[in-house]
Amino acid sequence: MENNRGSWGSNFGFLMAAIGSAVGLGNIWGFPYKMGRCGGFSFLIIYLLLAIFVGFVIMTSELAIGRKTRLGPVGAYHQISKKFKWIGWLAVLAPFLIMSFYTVLGGYCLQYLSLNLAELSFGLQNLFSIDLEGGATFGAMLTNPFGCAMFTLLFIVICYFINKGHVSEGVEKFNKVGMPALFLMLIIVICRSLTLPGAMEGLKFMFKPGYAVEAGFFESTPSLLNILAIAGGQMFFSLSLAMGAMVTYGSYLGKGENLKKNSVVIVIADTTMALLSGIAVIPAAVANGIANGTAYADIQLSGPKLLFVTLQDVFAAMGTIGPLFGVVFYVLVFIAALSSAISLIEVITAFFMDDAAIKGKERKKEKVTFWVCAAITVEALLVAIDGLGASGVFTFWGTDAWNDCFLDFMDCWSEGIAMPLGAMLMALMVGWELKIDPVLEEIDIGSNKNPAFDFFYKACMKLITPIAMAFIFAGSVSGFFTQVTIGRLDSTAIGYIIAGVLLVVFFFVAISGSKKTAK
Ligand code: PHE
Repeated sequence: MENNRGSWGSNFGFLMAAIGSAVGLGNIWGFPYKMGRCGGFSFLIIYLLLAIFVGFVIMTSELAIGRKTRLGPVGAYHQISKKFKWIGWLAVLAPFLIMSFYTVLGGYCLQYLSLNLAELSFGLQNLFSIDLEGGATFGAMLTNPFGCAMFTLLFIVICYFINKGHVSEGVEKFNKVGMPALFLMLIIVICRSLTLPGAMEGLKFMFKPGYAVEAGFFESTPSLLNILAIAGGQMFFSLSLAMGAMVTYGSYLGKGENLKKNSVVIVIADTTMALLSGIAVIPAAVANGIANGTAYADIQLSGPKLLFVTLQDVFAAMGTIGPLFGVVFYVLVFIAALSSAISLIEVITAFFMDDAAIKGKERKKEKVTFWVCAAITVEALLVAIDGLGASGVFTFWGTDAWNDCFLDFMDCWSEGIAMPLGAMLMALMVGWELKIDPVLEEIDIGSNKNPAFDFFYKACMKLITPIAMAFIFAGSVSGFFTQVTIGRLDSTAIGYIIAGVLLVVFFFVAISGSKKTAK
């Protein structure tokens, strides 16, 4: 069936879009604080190992599966697998859930951008003799559900206009300009951040092994397994894996493009941007804490507060020039969030477009995008109005042991369950059901066959990735049950038992019966 789904205008355009998808709030906000909280240097090493041995091969596989089938994840997995047809559903559901809060955070960026623009234009501090201190502004924003809802809506409308055309029109054009601009702005912010007095303490916090605990930022370093789970979850989220995004972007790629090379570039670019974001954010936050005489243990380096409280404090403390840096910084975060959000929307719209093509129906992408955005608006408004539980609108929420607010709830299902489980199953499918070859053949199209790569790829997909994913999955499951014990089993044990059982069961599903299931 003819599927008029469009394709990338150029490999550079594809690369910018894929890097745009990967570089998002996960890099600018998630990476720095997770690295800080998990013992800095050891986290970095584990993160890099996981990115090479797991992230890179999953990235290449997703691009290959998309390009081979020319379909989004639901259609793609249906076509290539007999036993794991349904994994594609996880990869469409998860982006839908993620969008419920990603759009709200995008809205927050726009709100902070407006705040700094207003300060730059009118000097709010002089006009109203108020203090634009981060804690107060964040609290005021969260308890203003109408404003949050409107900016969330604005963010979704902007996504709609980028997504409604073929990828080469909106998504590619936006990223070709947005990504280089983002890089430039990040460099500007780094220059300012590193020249603040006390910034070196922030760098030591990031890069000196053990310093975060030694200097008193944190009480203790988490266990190795804990670091593995957190670094793994972060790596997957940051590289946009197991969410259908790379399958979908791969489905618009031409056969001439080199998948291995592209994957290497995407992984290196994303990791570099995460590190640079850390260098932009952490030293500024630490320097500001030192300047205010805050004890190291009380410097806020994690959660939404890092971006919206700590950094706003940094800008407010810079004096006249502060709002200008504030504007540059929040534009930067906004572009990063937008370029990731549009990739998530593309996964969902591609599903409906492919579905129509398979059924021989005509569907207009513009219309599909409209309805997808409308559905996202409904769930996102709940999260926006909830204001991280601060608005008090949903008072029935928040008593649960495993989530504090709507945002956490959505995040648990998408990032915590769907993503690691999806990746584990995908590796089992490619490694043991398809026995590697059909996917490897696709990877080799457009590049030279390389026995060393083939060996590396096989070892990673068959062994390293499924096992690593099981650990990551165990870590996030145990995170949900922190309060729960069953008999003598604590949450960690429960996590490992569930993950272990799933790994074994699905491994046997993958190897059972058929000798060759691939087409
Ligand atoms: N990679 C994005 C980030 O770092 C989030 C994302 C996940 C985007 C999955 C698309 C798919 O913020």
